[in-house]
Amino acid sequence: MSTVLGLAVLGVVGLAGLAIVWQTLTVGISPLPSSARARDAMLALLPPTLEGPVHELGAGWGTVAVPLARRLPNATVIAWERSVVPFAVLWLRARGLRNLEVRRADFFGADFSRASAVVCYLFTGAMERLSRRLRTDLPPGAVVVTHTFALRGWQPELTQRLDDLYRTPVYRYRVEASSQPLASGGDQK
Ligand SMILES: C[S@@+](CC[C@H](N)C(=O)[O-])C[C@H]1O[C@@H](n2cnc3c(N)ncnc32)[C@H](O)[C@@H]1O
Repeated sequence: MSTVLGLAVLGVVGLAGLAIVWQTLTVGISPLPSSARARDAMLALLPPTLEGPVHELGAGWGTVAVPLARRLPNATVIAWERSVVPFAVLWLRARGLRNLEVRRADFFGADFSRASAVVCYLFTGAMERLSRRLRTDLPPGAVVVTHTFALRGWQPELTQRLDDLYRTPVYRYRVEASSQPLASGGDQK
């Protein structure tokens, strides 16, 4: 009986491992969680009160999304994650947090038009695409906090270096009115 149970547990762990590897290859990044230092710095760089939707893009296991929802009780935190195994853990951790919505979907499908903030820890390819997307879609005044990877072509209003081996940078950006698309088809900045 205990052998059967042991084999079943081994099977589930093996399948979960395979799913993580497969989705790392297809999504383009592993679900590596932010370090405690990076998480704390990201939370500290956000305004203390935010009310519109706050998106975490690629929320992994909920390392940032869960404390983010606790810290911003008046905001709705929307945590996007495509990879099924970390998403399952994120979903479990979100239960009981009424202001944390979890979505198992590609965050490029998000509606950023009412967002008050965006938080992410991703990779170069996604950041390049996001740089263009967020420039046109975010409302004026929205804040973007990223770590390790910067938004290409954006000027951070603040860069903080973590006290870790890599002096990891954490960036804060703010959308100004001038970065919105021009009303009558003019060139964007
Ligand atoms: C480096 S992990 C960061 C996890 C978490 N944000 C943290 O800081 O602990 C990046 C996550 O983004 C997810 N991801 C990457 N591209 C995505 C996309 N287009 N839509 C949804 N999730 C995505 C990956 O599956 C991965 O779990």
